[in-house]
Amino acid sequence: MTNNLIYEPSDDSFLLAKQVKKYAKNKKVLDIGSGSGIQALSAKKAKAKSVLASDINKSAVKKIKSLGIESIYSNLFSKIKGKYDLIIFNPPYLPKDEREDYDSSLITSGGKRGDELTLKFLQQAKKHLEKSGIILIIVSSLTPFEKIKKTIKSLNFKFKIIDSKKLFMEKISLLEISHP
Ligand SMILES: C[S@@+](CC[C@H](N)C(=O)[O-])C[C@H]1O[C@@H](n2cnc3c(N)ncnc32)[C@H](O)[C@@H]1O
Repeated sequence: MTNNLIYEPSDDSFLLAKQVKKYAKNKKVLDIGSGSGIQALSAKKAKAKSVLASDINKSAVKKIKSLGIESIYSNLFSKIKGKYDLIIFNPPYLPKDEREDYDSSLITSGGKRGDELTLKFLQQAKKHLEKSGIILIIVSSLTPFEKIKKTIKSLNFKFKIIDSKKLFMEKISLLEISHP
C-alpha cells in the first residue's frame, strides 16, 4: 500500500536532530523511519562517515533519495544489513486511535498500547549496533515506559535521558542507549 503522508518535522524531530548534530561526526549512521529526512540530513551536515535512511513509507524513501541521501524501503530492520555506530529512531509512539485512518496512524501510532513498535525496534537493533555504538530514540510520557525499560535491561543495554521537552499534552524525552 502506498502512503503519501510524510511526517512534517515537529518538536520530537527537533529535539532529536539537535543531538544528532552532536553525535554523528565520523559515524556510520542509520536513520530508521526517516520521514522527511530531517535526522539523516542533520547527520550528513554533521559530517557523518556514512548515512543510510530507511522508512516503511515509499513516498518518504523517494523524497529522501531526492535529497541526495541513500534511502531504502524497510520495515524496521527487515532490509538492513551490517552494523552501525549510531542508530536513530523517532518512532510513532501514540496508542492506536481507532478513528485515525491508516496513512496517518502509520506515522503516529506505535501499536495498541503505543510501545509495541519501540519494543520491536529495540529487539532488532541489538545485532545492528557496533560494540561502541549508540542508539538515540524518542519516548513520550503518553507511551507506557515499563516494558521499554525492561527490554533495554534484558538486552543488556544501559540508557540515560539526554534531553526532554514538556509539550501541551505530553513530555517527550530522548534516550541514549548503549552497551554497558
Ligand atoms: C514520527 S515520524 C518521524 C520522522 C522523522 N524521522 C522525524 O524525526 O521527523 C515516524 C516515521 O516512522 C516511519 N515508520 C512507521 N513504522 C515503521 C516501520 N515499521 N519501519 C520503518 N519505518 C516506520 C513512518 O513512516 C514515519 O516516517
